[in-house]
Amino acid sequence: MDFATRIAQLRSRHGEAEPYGAGMTAKQPLPQTADFVSNVSRLRAEVERHAHAYYVLDAPTLPDAEYDRLFRELQTLEAQHPELVTPDSPTQRVGGKVLDGFAPVRHAVPMLSIRTETDTESSGALAFDTRVKNALGTEDEIEYACELKFDGLALNLRYEQGVLVQAATRGDGETGEDVTQNVRTIHCIPLRLQGCDAEVLEVRGEVYMARRDFERYNQRQREKNLPTLVNPRNGAAGSIRQLDPKLAAQRPLSFFAYGLGEVRGWALPATHGEILDALQRFGMPVCAERAVVRGAAALAEFHRRIAAKRDALPFDIDGVVYKVNSLALQQQLGFVSREPRWAVAHKYPAEEQLTVVRDIEIQVGRTGKMTPVAKLEPVFVGGTTVSNATLHNEDETRRKDVRIGDTVIVRRAGDVIPEVVGVVSERRPANVGEPFDLFKLLEGKCPVCGSTIVREEGEADWRCSGGLFCPAQRKQALLHFASRRAMNIEGLGDKLVEQLVDGGIVHTPADLYKLGMSALVDLERMGEKSALNLLAAIEHSKQTTLARFIYALGIRNVGEVTAKDLAQHFGSLDNLFAADLEALQQVRDVGPVVAQSIVDFLAEAHNREVIEQLRAGGVSWAEHQPAAQASLPFSGKTFVLTGTLATLSRDRAKERLEALGAKVAGSVSKKTDYVVAGAEAGSKLDKAHQLGVAILDEAQFLALLDNV
Ligand code: IVH
Repeated sequence: MDFATRIAQLRSRHGEAEPYGAGMTAKQPLPQTADFVSNVSRLRAEVERHAHAYYVLDAPTLPDAEYDRLFRELQTLEAQHPELVTPDSPTQRVGGKVLDGFAPVRHAVPMLSIRTETDTESSGALAFDTRVKNALGTEDEIEYACELKFDGLALNLRYEQGVLVQAATRGDGETGEDVTQNVRTIHCIPLRLQGCDAEVLEVRGEVYMARRDFERYNQRQREKNLPTLVNPRNGAAGSIRQLDPKLAAQRPLSFFAYGLGEVRGWALPATHGEILDALQRFGMPVCAERAVVRGAAALAEFHRRIAAKRDALPFDIDGVVYKVNSLALQQQLGFVSREPRWAVAHKYPAEEQLTVVRDIEIQVGRTGKMTPVAKLEPVFVGGTTVSNATLHNEDETRRKDVRIGDTVIVRRAGDVIPEVVGVVSERRPANVGEPFDLFKLLEGKCPVCGSTIVREEGEADWRCSGGLFCPAQRKQALLHFASRRAMNIEGLGDKLVEQLVDGGIVHTPADLYKLGMSALVDLERMGEKSALNLLAAIEHSKQTTLARFIYALGIRNVGEVTAKDLAQHFGSLDNLFAADLEALQQVRDVGPVVAQSIVDFLAEAHNREVIEQLRAGGVSWAEHQPAAQASLPFSGKTFVLTGTLATLSRDRAKERLEALGAKVAGSVSKKTDYVVAGAEAGSKLDKAHQLGVAILDEAQFLALLDNV
């Protein structure tokens, strides 16, 4: 089914035969009939529904372009009839006037904080359970609601008759600040609750910045030589307190609800767990990592389970929270000095720590990029011992004014590289080092090969001009070439590459295909068996795909996705070679910068020579005629692979599908066209059944591939 058909179906499901503004043009004033008014509100509801699926459920129901089209349609209609704009319209999220300051908001119910159990071991959970049981005078097992402790900023969202009327920060707990305008720009916060028209319902929760959004924001800032955010928490707090809502709207924020403030006209359920379930039904984002458990051992188990997945979570947490589940028991327990006796935060080791910079070294990357790295007094952060932390680039190091001898804050969260987030200036010693100056430090030369270093105008990085003459770049280029998603040469790790390059055995990737036993067995820690394995892995890598090969070349600005797009667009390496700047920019997402990188790379005689040698050495792939994307057999089709296929690895199946124009997604949604289910397929298969998505078994899938 193509998208147009799907949209038509979607419309007919809603009893809609034609677009909402059908028969009207942007210029003509429109007759405001009852039908028209109800069309606008239906369109608004539809846009809101798709936005909820996208921002809250993380399961898009429409292609982005189609959503944008509906959104613009609504904007146009509202612009023609401003009297029809409602405060809960999705068009009202874009940010209003710049403010002079934030008005104070007195909280109807104070926003309290919770006691923190700093004992990060299981005994912390036990101590809390014992206090609760003592206070209640019972030996019975207590039921608890367990949640994550999100590391962001607390907000109170006030809904009246289901419509968001005010958002306020916690402030001192009694009085906060009115941040309604900024909060309206957060897409996952509903402007209207679904199925709740309580007179007043105040939802409390945490606004946060997801790690990926934080990294992306900082990466873009660094590229533009602009200041970065220290950590996601400061990012969230800073954006919420930003006086220009347009700027706030550019910072990607998210929200999780975890409780209530004032409630009028809504019958409270009996437990905290049921409150969260109800909030979720109303369309509020509630974190799925929650559990209702009984007894201290189960609390400790929750703490352990979440600790094990802390790095893999998409956002920062600094602990978990336990709450007595029964509201009746909560009331019985009451408060001590502004903290409820029925809740506690059980912490994890911090993801930021203080330590001292012993030295600053420069690392040379694959493209010659020079990255200053702080050598640190080893420190335990976010679960591991850290002794190196990136300073990203020269400007960032200067902006933070990091010097040898300084005490700095180091952050390691998730699986990102540890970084220096700032200097504790009060602790700067009298004999601190000089302000950072990369050129001066290196005396203008690459620390590895001695070539001149250059920093082009508008670029944030210094680079070594030595290219593949520079052993550091050569080593990184070889490691990239051999990496799993490129040529996938198993066993070619950094120690081996180091020896091969330093020993003058391998100069370019093409030399790998000339290696024989005699060159390998003399290397350190290389027995006959591992040498044979390596040679077999190199041999195996010869049969590859054009996309992998292009990616493996390590062309600046050409990542895996661009490599796939180039392979699909040009079909053969010779066609890619023949493309000029203009032809390259016809490829999806290839702009002038990427196109120039490709042209520069291929203009280098040395690079072409290596490519020819690789081909001569036996590296090969299937080629096809250059195809306009739409004409590929599976263009516009989305597949999801699940379970184990007997005859094809998942990567290989993905490659074959992509070569035929299909998109291969990680999860099943209404957008999925086919689910390919191998042996032991699990929840994705269930979801496909639920949504009525077409399911192919292995035989059907192979037949489909063979018949295109
Ligand atoms: S409950 C009366 N639950 O931690 C109980 N707080 O001092 C009120 N926080 O700044 C708080 N995750 O913003 C609660 N799942 C969670 C939380 C949470 C983070 C924050 C909260 C406040 C601090 C508690």
